[in-house]
Amino acid sequence: MASATPPLRIALSRRGYPGVDDVALPAGAELVQPEEGAVTDAAALRALAADADALVISTPDRVDAEFLDACPRLKVVALVAVGFDNVDLDAVRERGVVVTHTPGVLSDATADLAFALILMARRVLVPAVDTTRAGEWGAFDPQAFLGLDVAGATLGIVGYGDIGAAVGRRAQGFGMTVLQHSRSPRPADGVAEAVGLDELLERSDVVSLNVPRTPETAGLIGARELDLLGPRGTLVSTARGGVVDEDALLAALREGRIHSAGLDVFATEPLADAADPLLHEPRLVCLPHIGSASVETRTAMTRMALRNVAAVLAGEQAPNVVPPLRG
Ligand code: GLV
Repeated sequence: MASATPPLRIALSRRGYPGVDDVALPAGAELVQPEEGAVTDAAALRALAADADALVISTPDRVDAEFLDACPRLKVVALVAVGFDNVDLDAVRERGVVVTHTPGVLSDATADLAFALILMARRVLVPAVDTTRAGEWGAFDPQAFLGLDVAGATLGIVGYGDIGAAVGRRAQGFGMTVLQHSRSPRPADGVAEAVGLDELLERSDVVSLNVPRTPETAGLIGARELDLLGPRGTLVSTARGGVVDEDALLAALREGRIHSAGLDVFATEPLADAADPLLHEPRLVCLPHIGSASVETRTAMTRMALRNVAAVLAGEQAPNVVPPLRG
């Protein structure tokens, strides 16, 4: 008697991906997700994916050769994210596993967040909110919470892909002069002037990092680059941890060698130690990696990831296979 084909299993690394029920999956496919309240650490992810045909993951979930060897049925790893530095691409390709991601749909949300960081850092909004919340809004002080203008300033965008370009469009609304630097040349778009990285740092009041994390971008911004930005400069990053040298950034902020900074991404995430000096630097705004965290955007990302899964499981070309990296 022929043995029954096991159902296709699609493992989700987390509960609560919004939009998870919106996509038609292959008949009989079952979705497997962690128990309510369970933590997805490396061991839990491996257990979840051990007999899965497809795995849906987020930025903190790591996939490498050892992981793949423990999950031999996997045909597709679908990121609910645009960045894919958490996946060992050589290892997946050697094993014939398809890796997909969610480009485009999160560009506006991430650019919005970059602008939130720019405004929060440059207008020193965090101390202003804290003081107000503490009931300590005292007599008018002409010197209190003085920031620097965003309107009319020069913005340098490092990494002018979809997200960088969306940051540039917002800057136009603020009457900013926009510069951009990218590893690979980008067609002129009438928004941003292409310049070298040092020139961008020297001419900019505000710098937004929007590059992927690659061996070339690791440590891209250190003490030398911060000094080029200078004492009236603001640095924000919605890119990836490790692109900025965090020790150099802290030193530059403490010594007044740059004005302010805002980070949504860190070399080590989560930043869960309340004593971490990054969390206590008055001119540094820290957010918990929430660039794409809006209902509409996360829903669109989940749907896109599941459409990629459905395509691979149906033996079709997935629409969003990860491309070769561009800076
Ligand atoms: C989030 O960091 C992403 O890469 O989508």
